[in-house]
Amino acid sequence: MSIPDDGSPVIATPRLKLRAPRAADAPKIAALANDPDVARMTTRMPHPYSLADAETFLEACASQDPTQETVFAIEHDGEGLVGMLGFHPDEDGRTELGYWLGRPHWGQGLATEAAGAALVWAGQDWKRRYLLAGHFADNPASGQVLCKTGFLYTGDVVLRHSLARRAPAPTRMMVWLA
Ligand SMILES: CC(C)(COP(=O)(O)OP(=O)(O)OC[C@H]1O[C@@H](n2cnc3c(N)ncnc32)[C@H](O)[C@@H]1OP(=O)(O)O)[C@@H](O)C(=O)NCCC(=O)NCCS
Repeated sequence: MSIPDDGSPVIATPRLKLRAPRAADAPKIAALANDPDVARMTTRMPHPYSLADAETFLEACASQDPTQETVFAIEHDGEGLVGMLGFHPDEDGRTELGYWLGRPHWGQGLATEAAGAALVWAGQDWKRRYLLAGHFADNPASGQVLCKTGFLYTGDVVLRHSLARRAPAPTRMMVWLA
């Protein structure tokens, strides 16, 4: 596996640094991601989540086109890697925000801090004028993070498949304007 040192962006917040993921992150990602209550709130994370899943994910990150898609490791100043955040194109080429934090790090405002700073970067440096996000209807915490960072509900509720649930789930769509 090779993850190039390509001068990718680093976003600093009071408690966090958002930086390009690297191969050495795999064990920590696997440890935090192997939690059904993390995976089931996402579309793409499997459960159980193995070290091989983390390595495959990191290989995919390394081959992304950074003009279209970008992933950040969320690194806490004291705790090290606490989660991941990414901007990904949807099937229509529109960019969507996604994120997760490991359970020990919930409830401290870290997702709001990370997403807020990433959105500033996306608007100012990545030159995105609007972004989408969707959260499963049974995930009000993520809805709260998105509301606090400036997303608004579009009113659309779509069914999206969750790999970990092995089922589709109603997903509330939101939009953010730069
Ligand atoms: C969702 C997630 C990212 C939130 O991370 P976090 O760092 O705990 O989030 P924050 O502390 O920044 O904010 C959470 C907000 O949700 C609120 N909240 C938490 N549980 C809630 C619930 N059951 N109902 C309503 N609001 C809730 C919190 O009170 C807080 O809002 P407040 O600051 O206004 O009080 C984290 O729980 C997670 O990773 N979950 C699993 C993966 C996931 O859901 N990813 C997002 C997919 S769309």
